[in-house]
Amino acid sequence: MSNTKIAPSLLAADFGNLQRDVEMVNDSTADWHHLDIMDGVFVPNISYGMPVVKTIHQHATKPLDVHLMIVDPDRYIETFANLGAANLTVHYEACTHLHRTLQAIKSAGMKAGVAMNPHTNIGLLEDIINDADLVCLMSVNPGFGGQSFIENTYNKIKDLKALINRKGAKTLIEIDGGVTSKNAKALVDAGADVLVAGSFVFKSQSPTKTISELKEITS
Ligand code: DX5
Ligand code: ZN
Repeated sequence: MSNTKIAPSLLAADFGNLQRDVEMVNDSTADWHHLDIMDGVFVPNISYGMPVVKTIHQHATKPLDVHLMIVDPDRYIETFANLGAANLTVHYEACTHLHRTLQAIKSAGMKAGVAMNPHTNIGLLEDIINDADLVCLMSVNPGFGGQSFIENTYNKIKDLKALINRKGAKTLIEIDGGVTSKNAKALVDAGADVLVAGSFVFKSQSPTKTISELKEITS
């Protein structure tokens, strides 16, 4: 029995009915709310910012898993701690002093995550893996929901799992982008602990049922 977590990405929610969609996640079998913060610089898109995160936090009953796709994320660590983030994930490619950033996230009371773009090699985590509570492997190029899953992700999960085991780390492996009921089981079999799903959940006829389906497939 695996303990896979499902984290619906609110990027695909209906922002005119944000409270309803957050409550749908509350009442579902999902584990976390995944929040995508984009600055239009690190990625070619702007998503939403602090007032929206504040509203989500007011209505959410599950941990907020915040994924920062922004340059120089150190500027906002305290802000996201105050906004109620449980996990704060920064991009490997956006951090010059990643070790310092992860320590600052933990000092602010959050779990520290590192996200990696599809082209970034797992070997680069060798000296930081024991400091990361979570590694988010991007299985699409970050910036947009609804893209197709990149198949090389399976190789990266295996490499990352091997690194985690070799280093005796307790890091969770999260997969973000293009997750559906078709690849969910294979991702968990390869070593994934957390699956993020945006459009597959919110564009489905019954998001609640789709979340249960993902949960069942991966348990
Ligand atoms: C992409 C975001 C993802 C996105 C996933 O940049 O980090 O979290 O919302 O969306 P889907 O599941 O539609 O690929
Ligand atoms: Zn994300």
